[in-house]
This record gives sequence, C-alpha cells and structure tokens, in this order.
Amino acid sequence: MMDLLKGKKIVVMGVANKKSIAWGCAKAIEALGGQVVLTYQNDRMKQSLDRFVSKDTLMVECDVAEDSNVEKAFKEIQGLVGNIDGVIHAIAFADRETLQNGVINTKKPGFNLAEDISAYSFISVTREASKIMNEKGSILTMTYMGSTYAIPNYNMMGIAKASLESAMRYLAVELGGQGITVNAISAGAVRTLAVTGVKGHSELLKQSEALTTDGHSVSKAEIGNAAAFMMSDLATGITGDVIYVDKGVHLFSTN
Ligand SMILES: NC(=O)c1ccc[n+]([C@@H]2O[C@H](COP(=O)([O-])OP(=O)(O)OC[C@H]3O[C@@H](n4cnc5c(N)ncnc54)[C@H](O)[C@@H]3O)[C@@H](O)[C@H]2O)c1
Repeated sequence: MMDLLKGKKIVVMGVANKKSIAWGCAKAIEALGGQVVLTYQNDRMKQSLDRFVSKDTLMVECDVAEDSNVEKAFKEIQGLVGNIDGVIHAIAFADRETLQNGVINTKKPGFNLAEDISAYSFISVTREASKIMNEKGSILTMTYMGSTYAIPNYNMMGIAKASLESAMRYLAVELGGQGITVNAISAGAVRTLAVTGVKGHSELLKQSEALTTDGHSVSKAEIGNAAAFMMSDLATGITGDVIYVDKGVHLFSTN
C-alpha cells in the first residue's frame, strides 16, 4: 500500500499554499512513494512555496495563461525527471467582479479569462503532458458541482467547470489509444484561497458541510488520497469520469 505509487513521476499544478487542494494531492502522492514535481504560477507563489516545501522538491514555473509557458514547463519537466506518469491540474481563476456579479452581468473579457485559465488550460496542459507521458498515464483535473447545479454565487465559475468537464471527456476519448486516462474529481467545498473569491463563501462552506452524509466537510487529505488513487495502476479502468469526493453533498443538492 505504501508503495502504491513507487516509481511514478507525477506533476502537481496549483499549489498556492498549505491550504491548496493541490498540496493535499502532493502529500498523498509522496506518502505512497510517488515522486512529485510541483508547478507554480509565478515568483510570488514560488516565495510562498519556499516557506513550507522541502528543499529537494522539484519545482517548475508555469503560468498557464500562455501556451508557450505550458510547452516550456513540460520540456523542463522532461529534462528534470524524464517521462512522466501523471498530472494533476488544480488551477482555476475568475476575476472578482465577474465571479461576484451574477452570470447575467458577465462580460466578454471576464468570460474569456475564466474559461481560459479554468478550462482551456486543461487542454493545453493535457496536450503537452501527453507528449511525455508513459503508458497507463493518468491526467486529472479538479471540478465542482456548480458545473451541473446553479449553486448560489458560483456564477461564471460554474460555466467554466461545465466546459472543463466536457473537455475532460473529449480528451479521455482522444488519449485512450495511448493508454492514458483523463478524469476529474468533483471536490466538496473546502476553504482555500480560490474559495474566498466566491461571494458569501463562509455561508457556502457551512451549508455544504451541513449537507454531507456525516456532518463533516471532506478534507484536503481525503481529496488528495482519491487523487493519489487516480494516479495509481489501480485506477486504469476509470476514464472520462467525474468522481465525486464531497462526502455525499451532491446527493442532496436540489437546486
Ligand atoms: N476549494 C474548493 O472548495 C473547491 C471545490 C471544488 C473544486 N475546486 C477546484 O480545485 C482547484 C484548486 O483550487 P483550490 O481551491 O485548491 O484553491 P487555490 O487558490 O489554493 O489554488 C488555485 C491555484 O490556481 C493557480 N492559478 C491561478 N491562475 C493561474 C495561472 N494563470 N497559471 C497557473 N496557475 C494558476 C493559483 O496559483 C493557485 O495555486 C481549482 O480548480 C478549484 O476550482 C475547489
């Protein structure tokens, strides 16, 4: 069990701080013997990582806003560790005004930015990652049930997540022949930097916790454990799927 990911090289994108879902994923992968390469958005994020990530952790800069950055990052990763076995994409962004002002007030630039960083980047990352990926490779993104339900205040991010999930399904079909699986984890609401951009996020977190089957929100460690399983050879039968890791919140959602 402790060696489940031994010999696997896995790229984890989207650690901003210790509260990030991506950090829960990185820790779970390391605990199972996998080697992690972290990517970070910019210098500011690198400084944040330097405070808590061990010195021998491999880290590569990758702002997904430009295709050329993604290409460069995966070439750099190949130079560092050779071919890879998995990628976890835990990246999303919408500007505050777009996110907080309702879908009806969403303007073209805000729509494009949210789609670009939160959905399109999964396509560019998958394209570059798949070029250096071993067979039985696994590509995973993070989504939220606001893609399917009209969750109050999730707004534009719900639209981007719907797009992300659809892209995930097409990519799964296209990469099946290469022996690569592509999936999404639909995580329950947890407190992170990204969540603070959602209006009334404290209320959302509270309501979500009340809708779990046991009254306790899913933890980042639990999301990380599911992600680590998805990186393992035990999960090769799963592709094109949205796997809920939310303590059952989606079972009760009626809106
Ligand atoms: N927190 C939740 O409740 C929740 C629930 C379901 C899904 N998710 C999803 O999980 C993923 C991770 O978010 P989180 O909640 O851990 O928040 P977070 O703020 O810790 O992580 C978001 C990450 O996105 C990165 N990012 C933003 N723009 C980028 C860019 N241009 N290039 C590269 N990286 C960029 C940030 O640097 C940050 O590391 C997101 O896709 C989010 O939508 C979160």
